Amino acid sequence: MNEIIENIKKRRSVRAYEAKPVPEDILMQIIDAGNSAPSGGNSQGWRFVVAEEEKFRKKLTKIAIPRYKKWMESAPENLKEMRKEVDAKTSDPIFYLAPAIVFVIGSGMSKDLDCPMVCQNIMLAARSLNIGSCWVFFGQLALNDPEIKKALELKDNERVYGPILLGYPEGGFPDSPPKKQPTVKII
Ligand SMILES: Cc1cc2nc3c(=O)[nH]c(=O)nc-3n(C[C@H](O)[C@H](O)[C@H](O)COP(=O)(O)O)c2cc1C
Repeated sequence: MNEIIENIKKRRSVRAYEAKPVPEDILMQIIDAGNSAPSGGNSQGWRFVVAEEEKFRKKLTKIAIPRYKKWMESAPENLKEMRKEVDAKTSDPIFYLAPAIVFVIGSGMSKDLDCPMVCQNIMLAARSLNIGSCWVFFGQLALNDPEIKKALELKDNERVYGPILLGYPEGGFPDSPPKKQPTVKII
């Protein structure tokens, strides 16, 4: 297996982080990898906000947790079960106390197609540098708070992708969850 494919297969969603910050040069390499994603017409309709400040990260968690609990009340039973396990292991079931939270902020026509590729580049680059990552949909629950919107300078024509957590994995990278064999038809 070549090293690119090996890195793809080794990437894992990390849900426990060391308190240690991600060094700036490493963070910037990861962001640069995100920024190198393809985009429709090379439009590159994205920008990045990285939340590192502890006070701001705590604010995000404080806003998101009650909304997460409310959201979970009407979630499918299998997700509720899965999340019970996750919740039991952490005081922060949204951002997992990650030292860096990357908001990929997209605008323009092809943002819904382009920005997830930016996110995937970020997660793969992070893995190649031994930095853990996780796309956290539940992090979106904090985004319509006026103070958060202001801090991210979110405009009406913009949409947030991720956010993507970054940090050193506490206790190493987790094992892979079960993965289905691909369904392929060659014609
Ligand atoms: C769009 C998207 C949203 C996700 N949201 C969350 C989330 O809110 N919380 C979380 O812990 N993991 C989240 N994940 C991570 C998935 O649970 C994870 O990718 C999946 O369990 C497979 O594990 P792996 O990434 O280690 O292969 C999300 C992943 C994607 C792609």
